[in-house]
Amino acid sequence: MSARAILLISIIFAAGSAAADPIGMRAKGGHPEYLFLESLMEPCLPCHGKPKGEPDMLGYAKDGLEAGDLIGLMSVTVAVDD
Ligand code: HEC
Repeated sequence: MSARAILLISIIFAAGSAAADPIGMRAKGGHPEYLFLESLMEPCLPCHGKPKGEPDMLGYAKDGLEAGDLIGLMSVTVAVDD
């Protein structure tokens, strides 16, 4: 695994999004792909929080979610070049 790939994964772990541990790993076209659950944190709430349906700062409807709620699944594919 290249130094850049290790750095990328380290950043993701250090970011400490609730998804510090991948929930799965698989080979995708010869490259490792890691899957992370993406949970909401405090900084996400002005746009994804409550009250549901109210416009956020970008004019999108808020989702009515709380910190810790699951919002997505993130896929990280690592390019192995050495
Ligand atoms: C500045 C506002 C803002 C903040 C802060 C924000 N988001 Fe979003 N997010 C959006 C918008 C706008 C969309 C697109 C919504 C749509 O297309 O209906 C979106 C979409 C998403 C999606 C895709 C699913 C969906 O509902 O469309 C995920 C996953 C997501 N955000 C996660 C996060 C997480 C995790 C955080 C905090 C780390 C976060 N967001 C913080 C504005 C924001």
